[in-house]
Amino acid sequence: MAKNIFLTGNLQVGKTTLINKIIAALPATRISGFRTSRYYHEHKLKGFYIEDINDESKELKDKFIGRCINEDHWVSIPSTFDSYGTQVMERCLNDQSDLIVMDELGFFESDAARFQAAVFRVLDADKPVLGVLKQKETPFLRQVRHREDVTVYEINEDNRDRLFPVILCELQDELGQRKYGVKIDPEEFEKSAREVFAPVYAEIARQIKERTQITAGLCLDVGAGTGRLGIEVAKITNLSVILLDRSLKMLSFASQNVAEEGFRNRVKIILGDVHRIPLPDQSIDLVVSRGSLFFWEDQQKAFQEIYRVLVPGGIAYVGGGFGSEELKRKVDREMQERDSNWKKNLDEKIKKTNLDYCKILDSIAISNVRMIKDRANMWVVFKKEQCPPVRQGLTGIVDQPWRLEAAPNHGRLV
Ligand SMILES: C[S@@+](CC[C@H](N)C(=O)[O-])C[C@H]1O[C@@H](n2cnc3c(N)ncnc32)[C@H](O)[C@@H]1O
Repeated sequence: MAKNIFLTGNLQVGKTTLINKIIAALPATRISGFRTSRYYHEHKLKGFYIEDINDESKELKDKFIGRCINEDHWVSIPSTFDSYGTQVMERCLNDQSDLIVMDELGFFESDAARFQAAVFRVLDADKPVLGVLKQKETPFLRQVRHREDVTVYEINEDNRDRLFPVILCELQDELGQRKYGVKIDPEEFEKSAREVFAPVYAEIARQIKERTQITAGLCLDVGAGTGRLGIEVAKITNLSVILLDRSLKMLSFASQNVAEEGFRNRVKIILGDVHRIPLPDQSIDLVVSRGSLFFWEDQQKAFQEIYRVLVPGGIAYVGGGFGSEELKRKVDREMQERDSNWKKNLDEKIKKTNLDYCKILDSIAISNVRMIKDRANMWVVFKKEQCPPVRQGLTGIVDQPWRLEAAPNHGRLV
């Protein structure tokens, strides 16, 4: 999995601001690394210098990496990278830091071979890196960009707010700081989804269709992973589907799956976080989500977001499960053969994430809630009222059959 994250994008688009925001949101994390800054003289940009972020001295001597000779003529100073820059990189490797910042890698270091080698040693090491890559083509930048262990996010004014929680969560995963900190390897996940879980998605999609009767409009699959539930929903309805996930790698598999199944025209992909869904209010008819809520940091905020994007009369079908007990037994058997800790880990995860969803939804005034719980499933289903929400308490009763009347343009829960 890519443990090194770089941001790229146009000048002044907010890359460093985003890095600072992410660092500020990781207060318990020890950071080392470097920053490059601009040097002004008499309000004119005269140079760039590099600084160890833990070095508080204001001394700039020996730190200049580029100087402006006259107006538009710049010269690089590779020796600064090879001496000072290399020292900073070596310090990062050997100190007690958890995360290494490289803000930024550009073209001034194109001829700094020692520094480049030190950067690659850091990228190879265990500690995650958060950095900025200049949007330029040099052999060095290309080599960094194309490494397997590097993910590059292109930042622009439209996506920078949305990418904040995405990148933050990815780093928290790497740093082992997630509340429900189970790390999923997207490649392994997709392999099991394809080889073992496939019938589960089809069955759950069938149940969702039967229970919600929503077959047209827009469906959002939250925490869609490699997209299998959303694609199955698209197969049996006329719904257009948006696959939302905070993992770029999961979504790259999802994109392949959408293309393979021939659904490019009806299934779209968005990188984003459930706590800040990048969609307008009242834009979605059906929200589905399988196996993702166990990872959400703030359940109330996540459900509020789901509620916000639902149209009045729209339905959310969120939870986890295997469709039926028979399918669960089959999956358990096959997964246990692949991984002898499968059942143990699954039971532990279920225990750890067994929250009182009725209470959570009640606390944010979401009513019309139904819980579907059996040995193979746990689904929270709710319908957004036709009128603006008024706090009414819960109308659904856990484990009891219940009914909601059909809404004019949307289905009903039965
Ligand atoms: C166990 S996987 C389930 C994937 C898919 N729904 C399925 O059933 O195959 C959980 C997914 O939720 C995503 N996820 C976790 N937290 C998330 C969040 N805060 N926002 C969006 N996606 C999230 C993960 O990246 C992962 O792809």
